[in-house]
Amino acid sequence: MILSRRRFLQTSTALALLPRAAHAVSSDLIAQEAMQQIAPSGYPATPVWTYGGSVPGVDIRVPQGGRVRRKLINNLSQPTAVHWHGIRIDNAMDGVPGLTQDAVETGQSFDYDFVAPDAGTYWYHSHNRSMEQVARGLYGPLIVEDSSPPDVDKDMTLMLDDWRLDPETAHVVDDFDNGHDLSHAGRLGNLVSVNGSFDPAYNVGSGERLRLRLINASNARIFDLALDGLTGWIVALDGMPLTTPLPVEGDFPLAPAQRADLIVDVTAPSGDVASLASIERDGGYGLVRFTVTEESTQRRQGVEALPANNMPEFQYDEAPLHRMSLQGGAMRWLEGAKLGDQDLTGRELAQLGRFWALNGYAERPKDPFLDARQGQVHRIEFLNETAFPHAMHLHGHHFRIILPDGSLGPWRDTVLVDRGQTRQIALVADNPGDWLLHCHMLGHAASGMMSWFRVS
Ligand code: C2O
Ligand code: CU
Ligand code: CU
Repeated sequence: MILSRRRFLQTSTALALLPRAAHAVSSDLIAQEAMQQIAPSGYPATPVWTYGGSVPGVDIRVPQGGRVRRKLINNLSQPTAVHWHGIRIDNAMDGVPGLTQDAVETGQSFDYDFVAPDAGTYWYHSHNRSMEQVARGLYGPLIVEDSSPPDVDKDMTLMLDDWRLDPETAHVVDDFDNGHDLSHAGRLGNLVSVNGSFDPAYNVGSGERLRLRLINASNARIFDLALDGLTGWIVALDGMPLTTPLPVEGDFPLAPAQRADLIVDVTAPSGDVASLASIERDGGYGLVRFTVTEESTQRRQGVEALPANNMPEFQYDEAPLHRMSLQGGAMRWLEGAKLGDQDLTGRELAQLGRFWALNGYAERPKDPFLDARQGQVHRIEFLNETAFPHAMHLHGHHFRIILPDGSLGPWRDTVLVDRGQTRQIALVADNPGDWLLHCHMLGHAASGMMSWFRVS
């Protein structure tokens, strides 16, 4: 996942070592089963579902404004579809079965073809039965390269995931419909991986500058991340550059589906090990080890903002405000909600595996939550009435967080709304089509937290 790897690809030995690089030049994206060593050595390999034979799937890279063309070939036992998360995409290519396309049956294919307008760190993942398919490994990085990349020694993509593996067999535990997970924090695992392996290590030089593209592909785990032996700045969130890089002090959250691009300098001396760490209540542990080898001669000072993407300027003062209540789950059980045209009680819903609702609907409603004319500015207020945090994601658009002082915060495509919290966002509804709006804790989405909006 290191950019400088491309230099190695010229040689045939490297191709033998990195078979998935070969897929990067092909236009097929093959959804297929594979075996991969996810757990530490000594444990058996894990049967996984992949794009191209490994988790994460094929590393897809295009220049900004470039076209992504991939024929999805479904060699899995279930129907599937690919969603290109965070791309301001043509609606027909958004990969949502039942809304923008039919799921691709086993043995069938679908041609994805779209332009990637914004530079940055994106990802792709299954959007069919995603709480199972993503948990089995169906995701990969989608990197849209800047025309003038920042000055760094290494550009590394780090995809974080949280697996629930059987401690004996290392198989993915297939209790995806488990009502306890669905109604609580979602499917939390027992093994965290980065780039598909437990505790990977990379060599870096002391004094080197790295770009770390962090992507949280977990079903439900919110990471609190910190740096050790590295100092740096967050330069982009959810793909979009920050106008002012934010120094990393202490820990910062990365909710499911969110991305953070960091520029970090290796401050640990050679011989040491630096790390990206996950901070938990009872202490922290390293997710990735950076083995610090020789001293680099070049040292850099300060960091510049990445060039902005071409996002609309807007004001939201006159923009209509739409409230979306996040309801249900354990400790705030639904009294009732709508499923289609029917009003069901909380008990009836629970029997159907529905534990959550958005504005009183325990599944994607027939009518859109918001019906916008193209180009209008709208505000959405998420009111989290539940006892759990939720990562609310909009398809096809980035939005801006409205900060407590009323100013416009960073562009994002997924916002974490803590329990009891209210968060407002503002967006320009400029991309025509029918777009999902849902919680990216994938079990929550499957058990009620799913809505949509229309731009026409
Ligand atoms: Cu990344 Cu609808 O999801
Ligand atoms: Cu998305
Ligand atoms: Cu949720």
